[in-house]
Amino acid sequence: MVLKRGAAIIGWGSALPAKVLTNHDLEQRVDTSDEWIRTRTGILERRIAAPTEAASDLALQAARTALKKAAICAQQLDLIIVATVTPDMIFPATACLIQNRLGASLAGAFDLEAGCTGFLYGLSVGREFVRSGTYNHVLIVGVDILSRITDWQDRNTCVLFGDGAAAVVLGPSQAEEGILSTYLGSDGSGGEFLYVAAGGSRLPLDNEALKHGLQYTRMKGPEVFKFAVRIMADATLEALNRAGLGLEEVSYLIPHQANQRIIDAARKRLKLSPERVLVNLDRYGNMSSASIPVALAEAAEAGQFQPGDVLVLVGFGAGLTWGANVVKWI
Ligand code: UT7
Repeated sequence: MVLKRGAAIIGWGSALPAKVLTNHDLEQRVDTSDEWIRTRTGILERRIAAPTEAASDLALQAARTALKKAAICAQQLDLIIVATVTPDMIFPATACLIQNRLGASLAGAFDLEAGCTGFLYGLSVGREFVRSGTYNHVLIVGVDILSRITDWQDRNTCVLFGDGAAAVVLGPSQAEEGILSTYLGSDGSGGEFLYVAAGGSRLPLDNEALKHGLQYTRMKGPEVFKFAVRIMADATLEALNRAGLGLEEVSYLIPHQANQRIIDAARKRLKLSPERVLVNLDRYGNMSSASIPVALAEAAEAGQFQPGDVLVLVGFGAGLTWGANVVKWI
C-alpha cells in the first residue's frame, strides 16, 4: 500500500518537577559518592516529583504546551497515547485522566507500557494512525514518576532515576517528511533484568509484599548495560536502513538516557561526533519514557532543529524492549 501522507511532530512540550536532588544529597541517604555516580553514570542531579504531583499532573502540563505549540485546541485531538510505567492508578488509564482535564472530548485515549522504550512505541502507533488518514492529530506523552517505585535504600538503583514528562503532537505532513521509519523489538527472556514484582495480578500488593519491598524497581545493572550497548547502535542502523538513509545523513541522535557510558559506546560504534548526540542525563537522570521526548522538546524549543534535519530517536528498556524512529524535521 502506498501512503500519500506522512506524520510529523508539529508540537512539543516538557514538564519537570521543581525539586532537584543532587548526588551530594544522595550521599546523605545511601553509601555512595558524587564521584561514583558521575563517573559510572554521568548523572549529576535529577528531578523528584512533589508528594502531591502524579504522572497526570506533569503530563497535563507537557500536553498543554505541546498543543499550544501545534496551534491546535484539545477538541482537535483524535487520540491520546500515554507511555508510562508509573500511571496515576492501575486503572483508569492516565491518558483518560488527561483527556478529561484537557477537555479533549473527541479523542480516544489509552496507556501503553513498554518500559523506557514506551515513548517510541507510542510515537510508532500514533504515526500509523496519522499517515493512514484514520486520524489527523495524535497526542503522545512520555511520563514517569520513577521516584515512587524506587527503593531509596538501594544504592544500585536509587542514584539512577528521575521524574519528568514530555509530549508531542503528531499531524499530517508530506509523505517524505515527518516520521520516516519505525523499528520496534522485544525479548521477554530478559524480563528478569528489570522489573517491579508486586502490584499486579501475579503478586498483589499485600503486607507481605510490602515487607519485602517488592513494590520497588529491581535491576541487574550489568546485564541491562551489555544489552543496551549492543541494541542502541543496532536499532539506529536498522531504523536508518528502513528510512533509506545512511549515518552521514543523521543530524542528531536522541538516545534513551540511562548511562553516559552506554550513550558514548553507541556513539563511538556509530562514529558520530558528541555534538550530534543530545544528552540530558546529567541534569535529569533516567526518566524512563520521558527521557527521549524531554531531550527532543528542549532542543526543539531552543531552536536547535532546522527543517530537513534528520533525527534518530533510539531507546531500550524493561521487557526487554527496544525501538528507533527516524524523523525528518519539518
Ligand atoms: O532504562 C534502562 C534501565 N537501566 C539501565 O540502563 C542501567 C544499565 N546499567 C548501568 O547503567 C550500570 O550497570 C550501573 C550504573 C547500574 C552500574 O554500573 P557498573 O559499572 O555496571 O557497576 P556494577 O553494578 O558492576 O557495580 C560495581 C561496584 C559494586 O561493588 P563491588 O561489588 O565491586 O564491591 C557495586 O556494589 O559498584 C558498587 N555500586 C556502587 N557504589 C557506590 C553500585 N552502585 C553504587 C553506588 N555508589 N550508587
